[in-house]
Parts: sequence; structure tokens; C-alpha cells
Amino acid sequence: MVNTSHFLDIDHLDSSYLRKIIEVSKKIKKEVNFDAYRLLKGKTLAMLFDKPSTRTRVSFELAMKQLGGDVVVLSQENTHLGKGKETVSDTAKVLSRYVDVIMIRTHAHNTLTDLANNSSVPVINGLTDKTHPCQVLSDIMTYEEHRGNIKNAVITWVGDGNNVANSWIHAAQKFNFELRVSCPENLLPEPEIIKKAHREETKINLVKDPGLALKDADCIVTDTWSSMGEDENSEKFKQLKPYRIDSSLMSLAKSTAIFMHCLPANRNQEVDSSVIDGPQSVVWDEAENRLHVQKGILLGCLGHL
Ligand code: CP
Ligand code: NVA
Repeated sequence: MVNTSHFLDIDHLDSSYLRKIIEVSKKIKKEVNFDAYRLLKGKTLAMLFDKPSTRTRVSFELAMKQLGGDVVVLSQENTHLGKGKETVSDTAKVLSRYVDVIMIRTHAHNTLTDLANNSSVPVINGLTDKTHPCQVLSDIMTYEEHRGNIKNAVITWVGDGNNVANSWIHAAQKFNFELRVSCPENLLPEPEIIKKAHREETKINLVKDPGLALKDADCIVTDTWSSMGEDENSEKFKQLKPYRIDSSLMSLAKSTAIFMHCLPANRNQEVDSSVIDGPQSVVWDEAENRLHVQKGILLGCLGHL
């Protein structure tokens, strides 16, 4: 039987369900007594990694263990799937017989959907070339801890229109904030995601000039100029140079604006040290909140929300 409680992308999930994930994650963060939340005792999470990870790996492992469960980690080098010796669908069927939930970080988005379509246990998207939904929920939690409800806030994405940017567009529709996307024209997020956002009357504005996009923004977000699996491209870097977040660009936003980056970061490429290590940066909270939000996501997938 195919399972439908996957966490694949923000746009597939109800706003009220996403809100519950954020609220339970905030609540668990404040909980000093872990025993109150040992709701996943006897459950196991399998994590499949076709790309490297520090935060996603550690935060999911600790989240599962702190909720009373266990984990198995499989990396590309040591699985039949990674070596191309077994299909995604066979892997999904086998893992479904052993574990209660699967998280995958992979390249092609259809590897994720193929896994989900053939799994009888929930599948979580731990990043694909197309989206990174777990990260963006952590970012929303972080925004709200610092600045209150994200509804109607102005969030400005600057730089490469990559997988994280795509998930921010999905989130703008579900959480009802204004998203300004400032990228060179040929590096915009996925056209089909932008089109869908416009169709659904999401408050998304494409503002090529980063100075205009930052004006009066509540939060500035950027990410690496070369995502995992992508070669470093000096032509692309040249195009992105005006999109580097430095203090003078940052000063165009509201004086109370916060700076976010999912990490890993390249200081003095997409962001200056003065910004990422400066007083407006909340990147360490963002990283910490991955742990809390993974708990909300796992509880949701396993029917505890
Ligand atoms: N932000 C993020 O997903 O980090 P990792 O690549 O370290 O998991
Ligand atoms: N866009 C980055 C995010 C890393 C967490 C990448 O895909 O490499």
C-alpha cells in the first residue's frame, strides 16, 4: 500500500498542517524534559544520502533519537541504489519492510518522487536539485522567533534562484508573506514554480535590481552560488557579483532586518563576513532550528500532530 503522509514539498501540504509543524517545533524547543516527547519509541528512520550533509544529517539523527526512536544512515557509496545496482522502487519496497520513515537527500527530484510512490512508509525530502523544504520551515520558525508571525512580512531572496529559493516560493503561498526574488534573469528559480505561484496569487515579485529588492525588507536570504553537484562556474559568479550581500546592500533593508543563509556559506562570495558574522545575522539560530523542525516533521509524518 502506498503511503500518503510524505513530506515532499511545501506546496503539497496544507497551510494548517505546516503551521502545526512550526508550532510543535517551537514548543519542543522550549521543553526541558525530553521524556515528554518520546513519542517515536520503537520507530526507525532510514536516511539515504546521495550528497554530503552536516546539518541535515546531524539534526535528523538527533531529532529521531531525542523523540525516542532510532536511525540507520545509508550513503551513496555503500548502497546498491547509489551504485546503480538496484532500482529506486525496489529500494523503497525493501526499506518499507524495515523502517517506519525514510529521509532522502538526492540529485534528481524524480528519485524522491519515485521513492515516495513506491514506499509504504512516509518519505521526507532532505534536499533535491529542485527543493529543500525542511530548510525553509526552519527558516520560517527562525524568522518568527525573531520578528513574530511571518504573515505579511517582506522576505527578499538575493542571488542564485536555486533549490532553496524554489521552496521559499512554495512557502510564500502557504504562509502568506511577500517574497521578493532578486536574481539575474537566467538564474531565476524554476519557471514552472514561478508560474504556479502567479496563478495562485502568491505575493511574489521578481525584482532584478537587488537594491530595489532589499528596500524596506524584513529579512534577506541568500545561499551559495554553486549548489552541490554543480561545477563552479566563473561566468555565473561574474553575473552574481552585484548580488553579493555586503553591509551597504544590507543597509537598504529595514534597520530591524535579519539576515539568513541555510549554510554552508562562502564568505566573501555570496555574503560578506561583516554581514554573516554581524549583528543582523541569525544563521546559527537557523541551523539550530533544523533540529527542532525535524522533530515537528517526523511527528507529522508518523501521525503525532
Ligand atoms: N543547510 C543544510 O541543509 O545543510 P547540510 O547540507 O549541512 O545538511
Ligand atoms: N543550495 C544548496 C543548499 C545546501 C544546503 C545546495 O543544494 O547545495
